[in-house]
Amino acid sequence: MTTLNRQIVLASRPQGEATAANFRLQEVPVPELQEGQVCVRHHYLSLDPYMRGRMNESKSYAQPQPLDEVMIGGTVGEVVASRHPKFSVGDAVVGMGGWQEYSVVDATIPGMLRKVDTRQIPISHYLGAVGMPGVTAWYGLVKIIAPQAGETVTVSAASGAVGSAYGALAKARGCRVVGIAGGAEKCDYVVRELGFDACIDYRAHADYLSLAKALKQACPNGIDGHFENVGGMVLDAVMLRTNAFARIAMCGMIAGYDGAPLPMANPALILVNRMKIEGFIVSEHMAVWPEALQELGGLVASGKLRPRETIAQGLASAPEAFLGLLKGRNFGKQLVKLI
Ligand SMILES: NC(=O)c1ccc[n+]([C@@H]2O[C@H](COP(=O)([O-])OP(=O)(O)OC[C@H]3O[C@@H](n4cnc5c(N)ncnc54)[C@H](OP(=O)(O)O)[C@@H]3O)[C@@H](O)[C@H]2O)c1
Repeated sequence: MTTLNRQIVLASRPQGEATAANFRLQEVPVPELQEGQVCVRHHYLSLDPYMRGRMNESKSYAQPQPLDEVMIGGTVGEVVASRHPKFSVGDAVVGMGGWQEYSVVDATIPGMLRKVDTRQIPISHYLGAVGMPGVTAWYGLVKIIAPQAGETVTVSAASGAVGSAYGALAKARGCRVVGIAGGAEKCDYVVRELGFDACIDYRAHADYLSLAKALKQACPNGIDGHFENVGGMVLDAVMLRTNAFARIAMCGMIAGYDGAPLPMANPALILVNRMKIEGFIVSEHMAVWPEALQELGGLVASGKLRPRETIAQGLASAPEAFLGLLKGRNFGKQLVKLI
């Protein structure tokens, strides 16, 4: 009997803000398996900010998402059929299955599908803290900021998938960790649940000078390292509080993903404070993934990192959940539960 697969494809490119009309739901049969292929039934689909950049035609570090093709995305699920000797029915796996209920994967290509151990770590965390977002936090902190114990480090979008992992990793290195997040509820969670030393609600500040004042209180010794996820006012405020030889890991600029310009208020501070500012893309640093995943898995398994998730139900909810992520409506890692 043919199994039907529901998929969401990119129907059109956004003009300015992305909308639900840019996506289309379609139904197609799951194809017959060829030798070396594995069929995965997805349990969770990951929604990530980078997907917004790929919806545009313009060239970036990643190729644009082709029109009328399944939206790209990380997935976890179980093998339901296999014609590859290393994968058996029932195996829990992580891959890039996209916005659909099933994927057929050529498992002979290295890195396409990875088995995961769900005995101590829930499968969904392999899309968040013990997956790409966690490794992103690890790379920026360990390889770019490289903090010493006792230094003060900060992060924007602190309650999110990347930000929450960053906090646990920085605490494990003996840093003072200060988050910046949108709203009192998120800030409360960042301090109480994630163990940050302080968290500042940027929405309570009308401009970057006011936010910088609050940062001065939370970071009495200045800022030695910063991990930027947002850009704009948040980055401007942090720049004012940086110490000499501060390091900034440029991870994301979500405040500008829908096209808003993000001018920098005081670029001269880069020189004045002899700062190192380095952008990075986590998928270009595959060599560090095993080490990073091992540390992150240990933090989750030991309860030192308790990541929060926002879970939308069913494939059809993915576009609205994704648009919400771009507006900060998610609280922690944004997922879509498919079964
Ligand atoms: N360089 C890389 O390789 C790489 C890899 C993964 C992720 N990233 C980047 O890392 C960042 C965080 O990703 P994530 O997956 O952990 O997402 P996330 O933090 O779980 O969710 C995004 C968060 O960004 C904040 N946000 C959304 N729109 C905003 C706006 N217009 N202005 C200010 N803040 C806004 C919201 O938090 P608040 O409510 O707290 O503002 C929202 O919850 C993103 O910029 C992403 O592109 C980069």
